[in-house]
Amino acid sequence: MAERPSWNSAYQGSPPWDVGRPQPDFVRLAEAGELVGRVLDVGCGTGEQVMLAATHGAEAMGVDIAELAIQRAREKAEERGIHATFQVADAMHLDRLGRQFDVITDSGLFHVFSDDERPAFVTSLRSVLRPGGMYYMMCFSDRQPGDWGPRRVSKAEIRASFTDGWSVRSIEPAQFVIAIESERAQAWLATIERV
Ligand SMILES: C[S@@+](CC[C@H](N)C(=O)[O-])C[C@H]1O[C@@H](n2cnc3c(N)ncnc32)[C@H](O)[C@@H]1O
Repeated sequence: MAERPSWNSAYQGSPPWDVGRPQPDFVRLAEAGELVGRVLDVGCGTGEQVMLAATHGAEAMGVDIAELAIQRAREKAEERGIHATFQVADAMHLDRLGRQFDVITDSGLFHVFSDDERPAFVTSLRSVLRPGGMYYMMCFSDRQPGDWGPRRVSKAEIRASFTDGWSVRSIEPAQFVIAIESERAQAWLATIERV
């Protein structure tokens, strides 16, 4: 697995995205009953979105390439008495999990990939999401001013990444809660069905 050392080392401190609670836009999805069945959170970090899905009755799993993040996610789930599965895994090779999911959530992973990496990531998602399954993805938006933090993504880029075999249902304005700058960052929340 080609781990980028920076991801693991980010978890030796407190990364700005690790806010200790689920993102409000994912809470809204959970409360609307969208995070049900077999739910996979890709790039799960310390597991907040996974534990959110689990507490809403999902069979929830999170994967991350950073071992320290997975270790912390397991500790938090145990402390909170939440049943969820966490595994160190590369989201570029999800087929290696040998599992299928009804829903995939992504809070801040899609936007870390380069243009060249996106097609392989989308293929990887497709390998584990059942037909009719939904991918809920939140990424930094090109509506966010400045150039700090992750790269900004446009609606057009999201649409261009999910063409054949996918149906982009909606791309709505959303917000990341973060531990720096204004404590909120403009995001897109995309709802994309695997057809
Ligand atoms: C911006 S952070 C978001 C973490 C988490 N979703 C959250 O909301 O706190 C991006 C995460 O993606 C993980 N990551 C980066 N590349 C990855 C890959 N190829 N496979 C799995 N996880 C990856 C990083 O380790 C990091 O935890």
